[in-house]
Amino acid sequence: MKVVIFSGAGMSAESGIQTFRDSDGLWENYRIEEVATPEAWSADPDMVTEFYNMRRKAIIDANPNRAHELIATLEDLTEVHVITQNIDDLHERSGSQNVLHLHGNIRYAKSSGPNQEKEYYRIDGWKLTENDKCPEGYRLRPHVVWFGESVPAYNEAVPILSEADILIVIGTSLQVYPAAGLIHYAERASHKFVIDPKAASLGISDDFRIISKGAESGMEDVLKEIKKVLI
Ligand code: APR
Repeated sequence: MKVVIFSGAGMSAESGIQTFRDSDGLWENYRIEEVATPEAWSADPDMVTEFYNMRRKAIIDANPNRAHELIATLEDLTEVHVITQNIDDLHERSGSQNVLHLHGNIRYAKSSGPNQEKEYYRIDGWKLTENDKCPEGYRLRPHVVWFGESVPAYNEAVPILSEADILIVIGTSLQVYPAAGLIHYAERASHKFVIDPKAASLGISDDFRIISKGAESGMEDVLKEIKKVLI
């Protein structure tokens, strides 16, 4: 059985990482246009760099939560693929092996020049500075997909979802495309779950089992369910 996890910011909420659209979420305190677009970078690369440095520091100081750990242990039972919208590395730090980041990974940087996807550079610690440059001499920017940019990992995600036997959507408002549209590729999945305190108001199709709980307790429930199918 192939289990696919499709996660969003709510996955990391119980690790103390802010979501985007909950009350007091990131987009309540920052304007997307000023910190998360190519135009923002052109206008003020220092402000954008500082915004992601602050988030990278919070992520390094955070720990994976029980939901991350339960997903990682699922790999002992069956094939698991994590497709995440998150730029944090908490899935990897909890032990998940197959993690696909649709919107990039904040622990890495890439060139701000013309060949941005040619190479990703691991950032030591939390701070990227204006002195960090690629070999062609362009300033390094966070390896994060900004609004208005394409999602390079999208085409890699489609076949993974198409082959899912079990799909678990966890901690996402499903408001950002093309990422949110990916869950419709899981046509073969015989079991679909959505874990989110607001799951009932996501407008998700009725072939999903709704678990109106947080990630940690929701994953406990779902794991009990799928263990019946796996073992
Ligand atoms: N457990 C599970 N889900 C939770 C929890 C929790 N403890 N707390 C909040 N949530 C849910 C919220 O109810 C909401 O549905 O997590 C979801 C978070 O939604 P968003 O803040 O919109 O985050 P996300 O869906 O990941 O955003 C998608 O938008 O800004 C861009 O690139 C950014 O990847 C991000 C994308």
